[in-house]
Amino acid sequence: MMTFSLTSTDFLTSTKPQYEAVLVLLQDGFSLSVKKSAGIAAVLAQAEAQKHLQTAVGKSLQFYVPYAVAPRVCALGIGQGRAADIEKAVKGVVRGMASEVTKLAIVFAQEATPEQLSAAVQAVAAGGYIYQATKPSAKKGVQKVAVSVPNASALKTAFAQAQATAAGVAFAREWANRPGNHATPRLLGEAAQALVQDANGGKAKGAFSVEVLDEKKIEKLGMGAFLSVARGSEEPPRFIVLQYQGAAKNAAPYVFVGKGVTFDTGGISLKPGAAMDEMKFDMGGAASVLGLFEALRHVQPKVNVVGLIPATENMPSGKATKPGDVVTSMSGQTIEVLNTDAEGRLILCDALTYAERFKPQAVVDIATLTGNIVMALGSLRAGLFTQNDKLAQQLQHAADQANDLCWRMPMDDAYGVDLKSNFADMGNIAGPKAGGISAAKFLEKFTQAYPWAHLDIAGAAWDSGAHKGATGRPVPLLLQFVLNMEKAPIAFVDEPVKKTRSRRK
Ligand code: BES
Ligand code: MN
Ligand code: ZN
Repeated sequence: MMTFSLTSTDFLTSTKPQYEAVLVLLQDGFSLSVKKSAGIAAVLAQAEAQKHLQTAVGKSLQFYVPYAVAPRVCALGIGQGRAADIEKAVKGVVRGMASEVTKLAIVFAQEATPEQLSAAVQAVAAGGYIYQATKPSAKKGVQKVAVSVPNASALKTAFAQAQATAAGVAFAREWANRPGNHATPRLLGEAAQALVQDANGGKAKGAFSVEVLDEKKIEKLGMGAFLSVARGSEEPPRFIVLQYQGAAKNAAPYVFVGKGVTFDTGGISLKPGAAMDEMKFDMGGAASVLGLFEALRHVQPKVNVVGLIPATENMPSGKATKPGDVVTSMSGQTIEVLNTDAEGRLILCDALTYAERFKPQAVVDIATLTGNIVMALGSLRAGLFTQNDKLAQQLQHAADQANDLCWRMPMDDAYGVDLKSNFADMGNIAGPKAGGISAAKFLEKFTQAYPWAHLDIAGAAWDSGAHKGATGRPVPLLLQFVLNMEKAPIAFVDEPVKKTRSRRK
């Protein structure tokens, strides 16, 4: 676990080695006081005089000063100092030293904004994390981080949120990274139980609670769509219900539903072999809900939050659901499973129906739902789908604040017409075009009881290639949204239109 501290101590002039490495962030037009002649400040002043300090994003000068706060020094350009600039520069450098450095200092030479501080914390957390659960040979990664900034006392609230976000992101990454055989539905259920126990400080009861429903209970609820996905697997499914009560008991909660497909082979509609291993990340939505709860544990806002996770594998077998099979969802609507690889919507639709019992302020589902959204938006922005303009605006705003971006997609009814079936109330796929949108239109059929939005994180949830691994997104977005709702709740349901009294004659 990585721990952070915030200080206004001037690390630049310090002569006492306390860390293994120190990053000095240099923004365009920075000014270092040349008078300061001790520690790194002395070396930096000379470098500055020689015009060797560059502020372009990611440009760095690395040198060695045995008599300073840390011997390994990296003067790092952060350009205009935008959150994305800091994120890019710091993550890159920290990633490069993560296997050698456990104690790291990071210095803002000048006052920082809350967004800049948060970006630096997120970037160190992202770059300094090393996956270990199934890799005994792995190094520890960065463990201790001190952030020095002149206006530290004004940044305490922002720092607390940044720390909570980092903890939530780390939790989500950890679980999403675990391979399918180390992150089964049962293990996800146990992780949720352990999280809640920790969050309640080891006590049996507290603000957090969790219920993990087994196959029998899921069957009793009538979740026929969810169970049709689990049918082909030897691993039993779980339905995880997390609750955090930070406000009055009767205050309507915000509900977050995370897709928890712990491995997606495609089922009988089997996926091709190339890169199929990455389908262990198909529980990224579930991981982000767990990560949100881990973050909530640190900030404990005055709101009520519910997390719902349908967790299952999607496997082919003699018992597996076949293309053309018709299943009955918890809502009563029947579904023709035309493609068993469109399984995310089948488990989510029953969770969305279950969400009705909480009479929510709003429901947001988070899912690695379609390859199509990766084609449309790449990995920078998650797809945001909703017909509720206020909810869209709040989610987009939270995403921008948290530097965890999304982009609103259209939801015209015409995108859903091809979901029709001759043998059931609907099919689970539409045509080959705009697959991300038709998937959202499918989910929409189960969300009439409350304001709802869907985040398709198939591109955002993990990186492929050399840095293959989970990102922990969109935990920052979700936490920011919840905290915004705490400060300024929004009525997402339009005020019921007042009945005009019939005029007396
Ligand atoms: N988990 C996948 C979506 C996915 C695919 C995420 C590739 C990231 C990368 C989902 O269950 C799926 O298989 N979706 C299908 C739907 C299709 C069969 C209508 C897809 O997107 O191809
Ligand atoms: Mn699939
Ligand atoms: Zn899937």
